[in-house]
Amino acid sequence: MKLKDQVAIVTGGARGIGKRICREFLSEGGSVVIFDVSGDTGENTAEEFKNCYGSGRAAFYRVDITSAGEVKEAVERAAGEYGRIDILVNNAGITMDNLILRMKIEDWKKVIDINLTGAFICSKFVAEKMIRARSGNIINISSIVGIHGNAGQANYSASKAGLIGLTKTLAKELAGRDIRVNAVAPGYIETDMTAKLPDKVRDMLLGKIPSGRLGSVDDIAKAVLFLASRDSDYITGTVLGVDGGMGI
Ligand SMILES: NC(=O)c1ccc[n+]([C@@H]2O[C@H](COP(=O)([O-])OP(=O)(O)OC[C@H]3O[C@@H](n4cnc5c(N)ncnc54)[C@H](OP(=O)(O)O)[C@@H]3O)[C@@H](O)[C@H]2O)c1
Repeated sequence: MKLKDQVAIVTGGARGIGKRICREFLSEGGSVVIFDVSGDTGENTAEEFKNCYGSGRAAFYRVDITSAGEVKEAVERAAGEYGRIDILVNNAGITMDNLILRMKIEDWKKVIDINLTGAFICSKFVAEKMIRARSGNIINISSIVGIHGNAGQANYSASKAGLIGLTKTLAKELAGRDIRVNAVAPGYIETDMTAKLPDKVRDMLLGKIPSGRLGSVDDIAKAVLFLASRDSDYITGTVLGVDGGMGI
């Protein structure tokens, strides 16, 4: 059991990659608190987890990570109910794609607000607890497009590149308190987000992946578990690409 008795907050954990990360943590003995705006989906996910792993080990809090007030209150609640917060996974993210001339200013701001500012807000309030405990682990879910860019995703790529800067800075600020901060940069993963892609785009992408397949949510969850566990004790400030070689 790699995360026995550890408590993790996973943003956007109601579905997709975040949900799979929660399952990985639970199966390694941890407890999870999901921060998500998806009301019914979040409740159902937490119910599913409680049935599999026991009622005390999973909770869903309806939290909009762009609201500092909501996040502060939810972090206090999690710390009160579970007694500790060992891990934060900043996973919640959205896309609002368009080429720059067509991209609305509101769509730029919304993506930066959720993907980047939301991660900053969660890190800020959770780091306060971790600094006091003199231990902790923060993992940010970036993206391959935060490293290489992608036409039609100026807002999303900038938010994911910003997360890499946030990761490296927090790693430097918090290492002295035994808090590690790393990022995972997934390539193209089979999720609702990529299911919308037309077949032509999908085939074109496959041609760019040396491993010859899209990634799975399992691939990401295993990488996040590695960074969350003692197996990666001497690793901080890194960006772990999980992309089938697409970034080579
Ligand atoms: N899928 C990929 O191929 C891929 C590749 C690289 C990186 N990533 C990154 O991996 C992460 C997860 O992706 P995914 O495909 O699993 O996404 P997803 O299925 O869309 O799940 C994201 C979750 O975050 C929630 N959320 C959105 N805004 C929020 C807010 N303001 N506060 C709290 N929760 C919020 C969503 O709720 P609603 O459903 O109600 O909006 C949803 O439940 C994202 O950061 C994404 O950028 C994904």
